[in-house]
Amino acid sequence: MLSYRHAFHAGNFADVFKHFILVYILNFFNNKKDHFIFYDCNAGAGLYSISDPFMNKNKEYENGITKILTKKFSDNFINNYLAIIKKFNPSKTFLNYPGSPYIAKQLLKKNNVINLFELHPADFKILKDNFLNDGQVKIFNKNSYNHLVAKLKSSTVNKVVLIDPSYELSNEYLMVLKLMKEIIKIKKITLIVWYPVLNKNKHQLLTSSLKNLNHSHIQLVIDKNNKGLKGSGLIIINPPWRLENDIKNSLKTLFENFKISDDLSKLTFENSITSY
Ligand SMILES: C[S@@+](CC[C@H](N)C(=O)[O-])C[C@H]1O[C@@H](n2cnc3c(N)ncnc32)[C@H](O)[C@@H]1O
Repeated sequence: MLSYRHAFHAGNFADVFKHFILVYILNFFNNKKDHFIFYDCNAGAGLYSISDPFMNKNKEYENGITKILTKKFSDNFINNYLAIIKKFNPSKTFLNYPGSPYIAKQLLKKNNVINLFELHPADFKILKDNFLNDGQVKIFNKNSYNHLVAKLKSSTVNKVVLIDPSYELSNEYLMVLKLMKEIIKIKKITLIVWYPVLNKNKHQLLTSSLKNLNHSHIQLVIDKNNKGLKGSGLIIINPPWRLENDIKNSLKTLFENFKISDDLSKLTFENSITSY
């Protein structure tokens, strides 16, 4: 039985980092003339409110979205991301944080659809209620490790896939690696994989598999001495070809806002982008 609930972490620095890049990638595909489908393999509840005791338990958003929400930035990519978060906080006071399903929904064109997988029964119910009667959003209370690949294979259009698990199973890094290997065999895929940087560096299982792949790998370590979440990483396979050029400076700006100190924090960006 899963116990992870994303409400405890909504709006933290790792969410900001992940959702900033998600917005960039979905906008990139929106600007292409071809249709695409977004698949969120680990959707969570969709929308989080600070009135929820889960979200207020550790107030992780205080070292995340609230550090930047009302600041002025000259960076268009950061402003595109913040514009979405501000739609859910019209009074400028931070009240709500949209998860990846709601962020994607804001960027959806009329003829596009999104597919959401959420296994936790409580979060699935909230997600379902959040998108009640929304024909553009398909929600599955299914295990994405077992059901995603068949869905991807049944579609011939461009696909953007987010794998954002809770890594609460002992063999979950291995499961993600296996899923990544299956997915990259499928045509017209851009795959985004999120991982946490924790004490045991288990994420190296994922990053060591990238050598021969067209990818970007971005890692943001906020506090390398933190006993819990030190930072997080994103692996993007078949990224938009301009990704590094476009958002390297934006990432540096976000990093400056979240870092604890020069000694304990680090932003790294590697890529092997060929073309897409
Ligand atoms: C980190 S949270 C997702 C956050 C969300 N993607 C966002 O950015 O707002 C991970 C979610 O994946 C769900 N989950 C875990 N294993 C899953 C699986 N095998 N299939 C589908 N959902 C799963 C968990 O219940 C949890 O809600």
